[in-house]
Amino acid sequence: MVDYKVTSTVFGERPSFKEPRKILQELGRSGFEDMMDRFYDIVVESDIANFFPQDKAILDKVKKHNTKFFVEACGGEKEYSNEMGNVDMVEMHKPFSIPEKARVEWLGCMKELLEELNVSDVAKQEFWDYCEMFSKHMVNKPTDLESHMKLTDHR
Ligand code: HEM
Repeated sequence: MVDYKVTSTVFGERPSFKEPRKILQELGRSGFEDMMDRFYDIVVESDIANFFPQDKAILDKVKKHNTKFFVEACGGEKEYSNEMGNVDMVEMHKPFSIPEKARVEWLGCMKELLEELNVSDVAKQEFWDYCEMFSKHMVNKPTDLESHMKLTDHR
């Protein structure tokens, strides 16, 4: 059984995370690429589709970059950093306004993907835990409640 838990983001916190190893070992590079293709098929049908390019050629580029990044994060070749240098993912996501709700939806796409994927539960759990934690770093828009509380502090 895989525990697809989603814990809440504390805005501004950057919790530590562990990079997964098993999923790439089990899928191999080409299986991993198929998995990322499928992830974007799910994303473009989801409530966060609006964050992503509609144009297929541009979306393909996003997929390629993302695949390279995740391959590296999962213990594969340094495909992403060899091409892109040392990219800070938090900075990279800053042009997009990502609230907790978008993170939860993004994780929902990941859950749908993992549920249909043919790898061991251990591999799924490791990958899920990484995504669940690291995605908190990408949340860059406070909830309205957090904004109200901040305002109240200054009153
Ligand atoms: C573990 C969490 C995440 C990781 C590791 C991750 C990783 C990445 C990577 C590697 C890219 C491509 C960077 C490049 O082009 O060099 C990317 C792009 C992007 N990500 Fe994420 N991401 C995560 C979570 C999220 C979440 C929660 C959202 C919320 C909607 C999101 C939205 C986007 C968008 C909009 C782009 C840009 C698409 C474009 O280039 O037009 N990401 N992400």
